[in-house]
Amino acid sequence: MIIAIDGPAGSGKSTIAKLLAKELGYTYIDTGAMYRAAALKLLRLNINLENEEEIMNVLENTQILLKDSQVFLDGEDVSDIIRTEEIGNVASIIARYPKVRKWMVSKQRELGEIAKNVVIEGRDAGSRIFPDADLKIFMTASAEIRAQRRVQQLKEKGFVVDYNHILQKILERDKLDYERKESPLRPTEDYIIIDTTDKSIEEVIDYIKSLINK
Ligand code: DC
Repeated sequence: MIIAIDGPAGSGKSTIAKLLAKELGYTYIDTGAMYRAAALKLLRLNINLENEEEIMNVLENTQILLKDSQVFLDGEDVSDIIRTEEIGNVASIIARYPKVRKWMVSKQRELGEIAKNVVIEGRDAGSRIFPDADLKIFMTASAEIRAQRRVQQLKEKGFVVDYNHILQKILERDKLDYERKESPLRPTEDYIIIDTTDKSIEEVIDYIKSLINK
């Protein structure tokens, strides 16, 4: 059983996907964390983000592992440090490149195939990684509420954040993710769209569980 949850930054998909995987006893795959880990390495190595070949040279020698909600980059636990808006934006910048996406998609498919029962979340989980997923959800919410949620999450992780800055970053990232040529963020007609703006986490989880039971 493969449940794919896609949507823009801050739509609630990570929170929901994680909880759902836990309740169902499924493997949780956070595909965005892989782009984020790659972004961190490229930033640390000061790689030119306009150069796809240079980026690929680095990726070919990189190991990114997911273990529940932990992320390991070449053996280092980077789960928390990849959560900044800066890393999110660099992740989105490198996610434009076809070769980068191909590399990511092949790793993500492998992970899903090994695990069998999965909740996988990202931007292309149901459109490209697993087009035959059993259930495809597209989660959205207004940009303002997404920014508020991000501020809250980042504060809880100890980061100092400004609402207007985060809102700006979210809008920039939406533009990159929705408008890129390669696998743009777009629900095909087989997705079920959930607007989480006025919904609690429990309401969304209950709704998805009712869809699974159907
Ligand atoms: O889900 P997230 O915010 O952690 O993802 C960070 C960025 O990575 C996102 O803005 C675009 C990119 N991404 C992607 O292109 N495809 C995915 N499946 C997941 C993330």
